Amino acid sequence: MRQARNLFVERYRRRTPESRRIYGEARRHLPGGVPGNAGYRPPYPLYVERAAGPFLWDVDGNRYIDSLIGGGPHILGHSPPAVMDAVAEQIRSGTSTIAPPATALVLARQIQKHMPHMEMMRFVHTGSEAVHMSMRVARAFTGRAKVGKFEGNFHGGYDNLLVSGTSFGGAEERPLSLPEGAGIPRSVLADTVVLPFNNTDATVALIERHASELAAVVVEAVGGTWLGGIVADQGFLEALREVTARHGILLIFDEVITGFRVALGGSAEVTGITPDLTALAKTIGGGFPLGAFGGRRDIMDQVVTPRRGPDDDRLTIFQSGTFQSNLVSLTAGLAMLSELEKPGVLDRLNDHGDQVREGMEKIGANLGLPIRAVGQGSIFGVYFADEPPRTIRDIADSDRELAATFYLGLLAHGVYITPYHLGFTNAAQGRSEIDELLDICHSVLATIGEG
Ligand SMILES: Cc1ncc(COP(=O)(O)O)c(C=O)c1O
Repeated sequence: MRQARNLFVERYRRRTPESRRIYGEARRHLPGGVPGNAGYRPPYPLYVERAAGPFLWDVDGNRYIDSLIGGGPHILGHSPPAVMDAVAEQIRSGTSTIAPPATALVLARQIQKHMPHMEMMRFVHTGSEAVHMSMRVARAFTGRAKVGKFEGNFHGGYDNLLVSGTSFGGAEERPLSLPEGAGIPRSVLADTVVLPFNNTDATVALIERHASELAAVVVEAVGGTWLGGIVADQGFLEALREVTARHGILLIFDEVITGFRVALGGSAEVTGITPDLTALAKTIGGGFPLGAFGGRRDIMDQVVTPRRGPDDDRLTIFQSGTFQSNLVSLTAGLAMLSELEKPGVLDRLNDHGDQVREGMEKIGANLGLPIRAVGQGSIFGVYFADEPPRTIRDIADSDRELAATFYLGLLAHGVYITPYHLGFTNAAQGRSEIDELLDICHSVLATIGEG
């Protein structure tokens, strides 16, 4: 394996001298040489010149099959013409206002058409903000302070939920609340009840123990960033719905990745489970920054609708922002959803996901490697383990060194993907890109098998 890793590093360096040069300068101005951690890759990041459809090109002119696709938003591939045309027209008529544009209502209705449980919603700019605001709504509505989150679930970059992701500990049935990185206050840890993903009995027991303090429980029905592609059991989600409803705890679906991706109605449609609140982002911005949070009318109206006058004694939350009426993102989101609604688009995308998962398992069987491909629809995760992982602890027990070498090999051979497990297919891909992706995976793994 060491030999394969050295070969991949050497190949990467040979193909990317301009990226190496830029990194030399960039790391003096940008920590790690990158605008955000997700772009960091050892031995140095790849700097991108342009992206179009299913591909991106680096500053040395190399073309990559983009299996990360911006972290999820570019579900139709980069810069889809229908979305770009709508945006080009919009920017001539304003980019943002505080005065509310009718476009917000049009998009809200379009979202609600597919997610009827989004009875009322507000738009924000990121998934982190959407989840954060959902929690604030839940705390305001219930008057309770704590929020339950699952070990290994990722909900964005804000303090409250930056807990027990890849950092975990304690007994499996009673996970500890641990900070994900430095700078997370202790007070936040104390307000977060960490629950064991995909473990129904222990989850129900913990929720019952903390029931009177819990405002909400938030969950990813398909793990993304940290639980790359691990799907929550249907029975586990049903039990979660039941126990939260029984105790007046709000259930928040974090559909930042799954919304409009696993189905137009997201995980709520796939599972048939209705959450109280939902956080959306990525796809709904059509490639531009946009998030949304919302759900039950009684909750949203009670704590988000502004007070109507001195006689209105509701306790409402603060929810506002300079770019709250971002016409560019709203317009792009509308155009994107209209494209996704066209017959066959999501089916094709999901078929591609099936082809990648099946193809990867076949490659594993051919090469005698324990490859387990997980995921749902266009979300896929590839692991080196005897059994498909179900939790972050299983991921930690899988062969991480082999995975790291594999992902480095992909980068060196023209596939852009996370350095861990998560990947996406997109609607701009055809069978030839899927075949090319699988061929590259095969040759990278064959090289690893040689030493
Ligand atoms: C499930 C989930 N929730 C929240 C977020 C945070 O979204 P953003 O990066 O837009 O803040 C992400 C980002 O990857 C995510 O995958």
